[in-house]
Amino acid sequence: MGIVTSKEMFQKAYEGHYAIGAFNVNNMEIVQGITEAAKEVNSPLILQVSAGARNYAKHNYLMHLIQAAVEDTDLPIVVHLDHGADFDICKKCIDGGFSSVMIDGSKYPFEENIALTKQVVDYAHERGVVVEAELGKLAGIEDDVNVSDADSAFTDPDQAVEFVERTGCDSLAVAIGTSHGAYKFKGEPKLRFDILEKITNLLPNYPLVLHGASTVIPEFVDKCNEFGGNIPGAKGVPEDMLRKAATYGVCKINVDTDLRLAMTAAIREMFVKNPEEFDPRKYLGAGREAIKEMVKRKIVTAMGSDNKI
Ligand code: G3H
Ligand code: 13P
Ligand code: ZN
Repeated sequence: MGIVTSKEMFQKAYEGHYAIGAFNVNNMEIVQGITEAAKEVNSPLILQVSAGARNYAKHNYLMHLIQAAVEDTDLPIVVHLDHGADFDICKKCIDGGFSSVMIDGSKYPFEENIALTKQVVDYAHERGVVVEAELGKLAGIEDDVNVSDADSAFTDPDQAVEFVERTGCDSLAVAIGTSHGAYKFKGEPKLRFDILEKITNLLPNYPLVLHGASTVIPEFVDKCNEFGGNIPGAKGVPEDMLRKAATYGVCKINVDTDLRLAMTAAIREMFVKNPEEFDPRKYLGAGREAIKEMVKRKIVTAMGSDNKI
């Protein structure tokens, strides 16, 4: 089917009350694990590339890997820039074949976020590319985006309406209590569904995005720890909360931490059980297989996007 934008995907997801998984890719094994999983359960897919991934693997390598996956699977795949920090990186990705970009102006004051987002939207739309923006601040840490817990601010529903109207962005990432990484909640997981409901009521038929949405699957944390890791107290967003979010207009659910944990757990296990092993195909292959099984399960139980092609 090829590289597509998320327009039609989101429309169908919105109406069907499910979400499309947006998975971060950094190398061949990750691309293959995710796309082979989506193929087996017949699901549309978003592959997203962060600035860190572009620095690590280079734009062209990732683009060609994704193109190879499209040929191999014949799936509709969105190629998306994750957390574009400025106009320049968005432009490079638009010019370089991505079908979707995120401009993350969430760290700026409202008016500056609007101006930056609008600049990217104008450039992208002229070239048939869609744009995700972000309003509100997530707690947590990521490359180039550092927000302390104290600074985190939920999305204001009225501001969200004004923001979408004035920028023309195609989807909006909202802050309702998720955060990036493996340590999302100190106590019980809690998301502000009341805020999400207000936003979606004010913006009917409009796709919302949830960042920091990994479940931090205990099985993989436990396996990392069993085989020499040290990741105590990790906690993520339960899968039933993700399914619920999809009934409130969330059409895109971002996952990176779960991929990292699944891959690391498998590689740790491989090394501990086979200390004599030094063939990268053995341990990277084990990581790829773990990603594939995890993504299949996630598409079915957390996204509900299986058999939606
Ligand atoms: O939200 C951020 C993603 O997990 C990407 O992480 O910037 O370390 O590639 P990264
Ligand atoms: P997680 O850290 O929860 O996987 O979130 C990833 C993300 O939001 C990428 O933009
Ligand atoms: Zn994110």
